[in-house]
Amino acid sequence: MATEDVNFDSEEAITEITRRVDSITRENQALFRRLLDGERRFRRLAKAVWMVQEDERRRLARELHDGIGQTLTALKNQVARLHIKYEDADETLAAALKDSVELVSTALNDTRELSRLLRPSVLDDLGLEAALTWLARTLGQRTDMDISIDCDLDEERLEPEIETLVFRIVQESLTNVIKHAGVAEAVVQVQSSPDFLRASVTDKGAGFEMKSALGEDNNPASSGLRGMKDRVELFGGQLAIRSAPGSGTVVELAVPLTGHQD
Ligand SMILES: Nc1ncnc2c1ncn2[C@@H]1O[C@H](COP(=O)(O)OP(=O)(O)O)[C@@H](O)[C@H]1O
Ligand SMILES: [Mg+2]
Repeated sequence: MATEDVNFDSEEAITEITRRVDSITRENQALFRRLLDGERRFRRLAKAVWMVQEDERRRLARELHDGIGQTLTALKNQVARLHIKYEDADETLAAALKDSVELVSTALNDTRELSRLLRPSVLDDLGLEAALTWLARTLGQRTDMDISIDCDLDEERLEPEIETLVFRIVQESLTNVIKHAGVAEAVVQVQSSPDFLRASVTDKGAGFEMKSALGEDNNPASSGLRGMKDRVELFGGQLAIRSAPGSGTVVELAVPLTGHQD
């Protein structure tokens, strides 16, 4: 009798335990689904915020180019005409007007460059390779650096979001090379396969201590690299940064070309 009791109890206990395990498993699955759902919503929201920021940059870039840019062009032409008019009549005035034309020219070029750096229209019009070539030339000329672009995209167009993402990562990485690496050369490589786009920015400059630069020691001052990593992860991609003091830096990006959208 006693043995049967024990058996009966343990059978009931096992049934109860199984029931509870089942229920916990179901709860866990539901929680997991909610977590995934939350993450997907967060990604969508973060991407939307980023795209709004890019749209705003596009609008500002256009306004700078078409608004202030046009006004400066008109001003430059007007002062140039005055310069011609007074060239023979008044030497002092003519010299001042010539200086003014140069000043307005500088302001016009600065405005155009700022506009393009905010959002290069070549990225929308001609795509990633053309935009990277333009970026390398512009930054190279401005800083006296040799920035080479090795890109196998030719005229292939990718999704606008991906083109923008890769352009911004390369732009920010090159800005870091210019600001921190202390070298006169940088290499940008871009390779596409049917499923992935890979891009890297390499320099043989000063390098840095990875831990502090990525904010892993709670250093809040390093938002650039951290922000790049977060942005790439929003697109289901990965950003690897390899660096050490004295050994140069490689920033490597891989982003899926299909199925990245949630
Ligand atoms: N290419 C590079 N060469 C040398 N140091 C770099 C390079 N890129 C980043 N760093 C270092 O990592 C730090 C963090 O970079 P980042 O997050 O972009 O911030 P910021 O450029 O605003 O300083 C930089 O301050 C610099 O010390
Ligand atoms: Mg930076």
